[in-house]
Amino acid sequence: MNEKTDDIILAFESSADETSAAVVKNGNTILSNVVATQIASHQRFGGIVPEVASRHHLEWINRVTEEALTKAGINDPERQLSAVAATYGPGLVGSLLVGLMAGKTFAMVHHLPFIAVNHLAGHISAANFVKATVYPALAIMVSGGHTELLWMEKENTFQIIGTTLDDAAGEAFDKVGRILGLKYPAGKEIQEMAGHGKAVIKFPIAHTEDDFDFSFSGLKSSVLNYVHHHEQVSEEFNRNDVAASFQKAVVEAITEKSRLAIEKFQPKQLLLGGGVAANLALRTAFENLSKEYKIELTEAPIKLSGDNAAMIGAAAYLNYKQRLFAPLDLNVDPSLNFARM
Ligand SMILES: Nc1ncnc2c1ncn2[C@@H]1O[C@H](COP(=O)(O)OP(=O)(O)OP(=O)(O)O)[C@@H](O)[C@H]1O
Ligand SMILES: [Mg+2]
Repeated sequence: MNEKTDDIILAFESSADETSAAVVKNGNTILSNVVATQIASHQRFGGIVPEVASRHHLEWINRVTEEALTKAGINDPERQLSAVAATYGPGLVGSLLVGLMAGKTFAMVHHLPFIAVNHLAGHISAANFVKATVYPALAIMVSGGHTELLWMEKENTFQIIGTTLDDAAGEAFDKVGRILGLKYPAGKEIQEMAGHGKAVIKFPIAHTEDDFDFSFSGLKSSVLNYVHHHEQVSEEFNRNDVAASFQKAVVEAITEKSRLAIEKFQPKQLLLGGGVAANLALRTAFENLSKEYKIELTEAPIKLSGDNAAMIGAAAYLNYKQRLFAPLDLNVDPSLNFARM
């Protein structure tokens, strides 16, 4: 039984289409991490339907909370827990509200401090389950809604060095998936198709003027043009080659911008997080970059790359150490982001 020699946090995540509750010890040990996914409900629409998502969260939030507490052996929250945390942005307003309300209510009822977590800090903190970070660090945050190079001068500080000017990397995977007739979300399936294909098609990699920013919409358009052209003239094409060529272009764009950032900022550590961090080609490219520059790389475990509350618990612990608690009248912030450097 914990006598608060350990700091145990109950965390909630509901920013998009995963309803999740987790119990995390000392920011680096998962006692439970329950994730209810709604992907099947959104697949026929080819993306997340916000109203459907919030209804699902409402249906699932109590069940995932109970399961997370039971699995972690928490039967006396006030005595066993140190704090309660929830994602307050960025994400869909109706979805965020469910997890935030659950977190604030649980904190209030059990007289526990409440911690508000930035979802993107959560994705990066998934790496803390592997090992502690050395600073300054360069974090590469690649997800369904964001693609950011972040400078972390010290723990729990994030400055945007570069970001996407249009689509996020995961969004590009999902849009190309739709062009290829795949189900949403398509990242994993494109990776599998790429494994059976050859990257022989030259899709352009955007070179934005600002050194560290990304652009993926031109790449998506050229995949669309390639596929439409071949369909219109009834010419056979290899869909696996399209997947492999597209994936290679995305991986190159992300690694090349990261290389520039490494050379300019000289980080002591690289962190890779976000849903797209599950991509094996991207992981291999970063493992090579890490060897080349002799900078240690910590990747979010594949199982914790997508949305889950354990990563929110890991990020919350960094706030907990600094006693950064949030008031219970805090509202969601759907477009929350970090500041530019
Ligand atoms: N193996 C993979 N290769 C490439 N992309 C992947 C892979 N696995 C998942 N993805 C992509 O990751 C994205 C989901 O990531 P995540 O859950 O972090 O996004 P999100 O939470 O919707 O967005 P954000 O975190 O920006 O709010 C989807 O676009 C999905 O296609
Ligand atoms: Mg996410």
